[in-house]
Amino acid sequence: MSDNSEPIGVFDSGLGGLTVVKELIWQMPNEHIVYYGDTARVPYGTKSRESIIRFSHENVEILLKYNVKMVVVACNSSSSYAMKDLRKGFSVPMVGVIHPGAQAAVKMTRNNRVGVIATSATIQSGEYARTIGGYNKRIKVFGRACPLFVPLAEEGWFHKEVTEKIAREYLAPLKKARIDTLILGCTHYPLLKKTIQKVMGEDVKLIDSARTVAKQVKSVLEETKRQRQGKAKARHKFLISDRPQEFESIAKKFLGDDISKSVKYV
Ligand code: DGL
Repeated sequence: MSDNSEPIGVFDSGLGGLTVVKELIWQMPNEHIVYYGDTARVPYGTKSRESIIRFSHENVEILLKYNVKMVVVACNSSSSYAMKDLRKGFSVPMVGVIHPGAQAAVKMTRNNRVGVIATSATIQSGEYARTIGGYNKRIKVFGRACPLFVPLAEEGWFHKEVTEKIAREYLAPLKKARIDTLILGCTHYPLLKKTIQKVMGEDVKLIDSARTVAKQVKSVLEETKRQRQGKAKARHKFLISDRPQEFESIAKKFLGDDISKSVKYV
């Protein structure tokens, strides 16, 4: 009998998806993981739909070479534009980040006013609003692209004054819209959670998509009986398409651990 020791495959446009890996390791410490970060072509959030779909297909092809048992599309921009195409093109089970985040927001909101902050591509796709509407048509969704949050997170400026100022500017329309729930619809935003919470106020509930995605992956593995049975320590591999400057420190900000020894360029 198979002990389901094939790894979970995860891809993102760059290193931001390591926030999802961190949650996967936390919630499923026994699973092997192969991560692919397309660091040569990041950001996806400013690219066209066609390019995002093409890059996403190529990323899945790379993960399949490592015999992954499922694919987690950790990038919100890819999940917004490429999920349908990927499901058509590949038979491996896939989890994107839109549904888990949308579902959590639908459960959470009390006043039916939900905000979404994400890259320009994700907001333009309208995918969060469509998915939330599919669960509950009465919920009003307010989207806001916050492109400067990505470099601020990579710089490690999580709690700086300038970050708070920028957050106030971006989030003002959402405060005005009286949302009670806010989806952090980008891999990088969980790192700015404290500042975003401070600006929005304690009454607004933040949906951290990394956490909800990991929960969804766990339930898919349980339902399909694909959980790894082996007891030897889980192995994690990190593949990247380019080594960005200050790679180690950026990766450490996202994952909390030094991964430089388990990194390979592909
Ligand atoms: N990973 C992207 C996302 O979640 C953010 C960075 C990018 O623009 O590629 O949408």
